[in-house]
Amino acid sequence: MNIRKIKDSVFQLGAVDWDRRLFDSLIPLPDGTSYNAYLVKGTEKTALVDTADPAKVDIIMEQLSDVVKIDYIVAQHAEQDHSGSIPQVLAKYPEAIILASPKCKPMLVDHLHLAENKIRTVADGEKISLGSHTLEFIHTPWVHWPETMCTFVHEEKILFSCDFFGAHLATSDLFAQDDERVYEAAKRYYAEIMMPFRGIIRKNIDKISNFPVEIICPSHGPAYKHPSFIINAYKDWISETPKNNLVVAYISMHNSTRILVDHLVASCASKGVFVQQFDLSVTDIGKLAIALVDAATVVLGTPTVHVGAHPHVLNAANLANSLRPKLKFASIIGSYGWATKAVEQLASAIGALKLEIIPPVLCKGMPTQQDIEAIESLALEISKRHATLAGVVSPS
Ligand code: FEO
Repeated sequence: MNIRKIKDSVFQLGAVDWDRRLFDSLIPLPDGTSYNAYLVKGTEKTALVDTADPAKVDIIMEQLSDVVKIDYIVAQHAEQDHSGSIPQVLAKYPEAIILASPKCKPMLVDHLHLAENKIRTVADGEKISLGSHTLEFIHTPWVHWPETMCTFVHEEKILFSCDFFGAHLATSDLFAQDDERVYEAAKRYYAEIMMPFRGIIRKNIDKISNFPVEIICPSHGPAYKHPSFIINAYKDWISETPKNNLVVAYISMHNSTRILVDHLVASCASKGVFVQQFDLSVTDIGKLAIALVDAATVVLGTPTVHVGAHPHVLNAANLANSLRPKLKFASIIGSYGWATKAVEQLASAIGALKLEIIPPVLCKGMPTQQDIEAIESLALEISKRHATLAGVVSPS
């Protein structure tokens, strides 16, 4: 992508990574991603806000080919997908000063081996004049590392929001156009990257609400001309009350667990619970993470493998445990041949979530009529608990 104008003195640089399919060797990227950098040309000074992933350094250097001078490189985040091209930019503009939060400075030294004397720290609320334009730095920790900050351009009412409000979405749109597609990508991003920090995100949203933001320019995905679209979405996602949603994540090897899952899903749906079912042998874990944003209950379904839970189900439990969704309830269903420790293992794996564990249902071999009745009881217990949530109509 070429340099693109956002306002007369503000431009987007960076790269659209159409083909990347995995981030952190963990997170699926079905729609690719982008690494957005921004250039603000004041009458006296020029600032580059962030750079790009090292894999795309040639693109940003080409975009800078006609830029004679850069005075400041603002490093909003030390993670390499935004900071990784700073060494090459600095080599081209050796007079430039890197501006970073106090927590970011040592990270830039550690991760990129930048010289400490090239980095000037900026305080929360500190302003830098570019002549015609003023940049104000807003410390917004945990979006998504502890050092992250946003940058507000007062004269243009533009917020450079770092990973905050980002979306892993490769698109030629400079501004969000397809709300449905952007919403899904942004929710995936929130679920995988931001969800564990939602308490702090609430404070960060309060903080940026003090600024008259007209355009949000995140570090991934399209920019927003209507900030309320993404801010309201975040307010919904970080609210503490889950929805009347059940996530069933399972594996079945010889169909016993699947029979339990099918009965549970049908029974809960008939009681008015919104259910999302994920076969962990084929599912996109990003979809699972999205579903966990709103869910009140997760049910893990597992066969028994060597007396324990299936490894894919343990992985899903570990993922849920680390993403810290606002779940309230959990249960475990599954099957075994002669003995099992799956319940203890899975309950321990999601221990950090401090959920109420609704009594599990484990069947020996193929489910019997008694096992199916136990599943019906589990469905009733789930629907009763959901009825205690705000805004949920009681089951009849
Ligand atoms: Fe897009 Fe946390 O880096």
